[in-house]
Amino acid sequence: MSNEKQFDVVVIGGGPGGYIAAIRAAQLGFKTACIDEWSNAAGKPAPGGTCTNVGCIPSKALLQSSEHFEHAGHAFGEHGIKVSGLELDLPTMLKRKDTIVKQNNDGILFLFKKNKVSFFHGRGAFAGKTDEGYTINVSGPTTDTLTAKNVIVATGSNARQLPGAEFDEKLILSNAGALAIEAVPGKLGVIGAGVIGLEMGSVWRRVGAEVTVLEGLPTFLGAVDEQIAKEAHKLFTKQGLRINLGCKIGAITKGENDVTVEYADSTGAEQKATFDRLIISIGRVPNTNGLGIETVGLQLDERGFVVVDDECRTSLPGVWAVGDVVRGPMLAHKAEEEGVAVAERIAGQHGHVNFNTIPWVIYTSPEIAWVGKTEQQLKAEGVAYKAGTFPFMANGRARALGDTSGMVKFLADATTDEILGVHIVGPVASELISEAVVAMEFKASSEDIARICHAHPSLSEAVKEAALAVDKRSLNF
Ligand code: FAD
Ligand code: NAI
Repeated sequence: MSNEKQFDVVVIGGGPGGYIAAIRAAQLGFKTACIDEWSNAAGKPAPGGTCTNVGCIPSKALLQSSEHFEHAGHAFGEHGIKVSGLELDLPTMLKRKDTIVKQNNDGILFLFKKNKVSFFHGRGAFAGKTDEGYTINVSGPTTDTLTAKNVIVATGSNARQLPGAEFDEKLILSNAGALAIEAVPGKLGVIGAGVIGLEMGSVWRRVGAEVTVLEGLPTFLGAVDEQIAKEAHKLFTKQGLRINLGCKIGAITKGENDVTVEYADSTGAEQKATFDRLIISIGRVPNTNGLGIETVGLQLDERGFVVVDDECRTSLPGVWAVGDVVRGPMLAHKAEEEGVAVAERIAGQHGHVNFNTIPWVIYTSPEIAWVGKTEQQLKAEGVAYKAGTFPFMANGRARALGDTSGMVKFLADATTDEILGVHIVGPVASELISEAVVAMEFKASSEDIARICHAHPSLSEAVKEAALAVDKRSLNF
């Protein structure tokens, strides 16, 4: 059975870009629908997209659990806490993660109800255009036909396949399989030392896997400030992650219970490694299959992303696109900001996303977080800058926590002292970076941060001290 439903705004995709756009549109008074096809194991709607189901949320749940396990095994001793009979209960760890995911799915369904967003569980596809606007067919668990003058495409992304090594989610794993390995693999291979490779590699190493990471590029974390990346590489290697840079991946062959990867190492020597499981995390590709883009003529770029202008307008009037399916960083908070801005633009307001102040975080231990320009970018752009760093080793709170690795680094304009970038590798860098984001949004100088009172003892004092170090006057180092 199908029926006609007219909306002001239809959002296709219920990830962080889509569900937030739908809520904001409804807040602004639009009659809004959100279509999402994700189902949980029971076949029920599971809105929240990649982020909630197989991304940000489950990965952080497992990172937390695995860190507790590692601390109980290694770090508690120096606190005078003796642990005996330490044992891993992986099914419980995975169940906890699944429960957290479900809480988030249900939370979004609750928010839709609260904000009067109509939710449709199924695949949305453009079916044409009439005077009433675009026609969107919903197929899958529910079947419907919706129309709207404004459509927001927020269909997200999927793991990129390596040719000849298709994901089977048993031996060769994407992010989805990497979050659901039912027994700790003895040997885990990871292709790609990017964000997913490092986060998932950390989870499984902490619970006992021997993890080997094979990275194509000769540099480690090329997008990260070089000094920070170098420090992180040193720390991860010390933890036991075997990171091999400059690898050229050759044949990947599946056995009954293992996978063999042939590759040339950085010297060009041929190597062969056999793993119990192999995660492939070499980037992600936008989701536009089955969206009916040909029917309405929505323009894609040569890499398959929906073409948008700076304000997320596509090639079609009234059709907008946000999040992973368009250019820019593939981050949940970037998708959310674009979703809010688009809903506000539809309402005639001046929605705005500042791409220069989007923070990045890699949730390893220690965490890596940054905002703004790296030192190598400033050099390449010929910008005159001053740098200041402060190590967590010299921070009292970090010592009390027993987590003294890493540093905070400030980069400021040599003349005006405006903060151009802040880079952190260290404990809860994900939280500390917010101060830098706010400072940069307000165009603060390093002197501004240096003169603000920070609570003692706190990790945030390392941020203040790095700001003081820009003017060579840090007090505790
Ligand atoms: P998605 O979250 O991918 O959502 C798109 C939704 O649309 C999905 O539910 C999909 O099923 C649905 N859909 C697609 N096509 C259709 C259709 N035709 N009809 C109906 N529904 C459709 N980012 C961070 O900022 N922080 C993190 O810690 C973080 N961790 C991550 C960890 C992992 C392992 C991964 C893989 C990603 C992580 N990310 C993280 C990235 C983050 O998940 C994405 O940037 C974010 O989910 C993008 O949001 P989105 O709304 O654009 O797309
Ligand atoms: P990525 O782009 O972060 O890293 C991919 C890595 O694979 C790169 O280092 C690249 O050089 C390497 N690579 C590519 N092709 C290769 C090949 N053929 N052989 C060997 N190495 C190869 O991508 P990843 O880790 O898949 O994550 C995708 C995106 O998801 C991230 O860029 C990020 O936007 C998002 N994400 C964000 C997280 C966060 O915010 N904490 C966590 C996880 C993912």
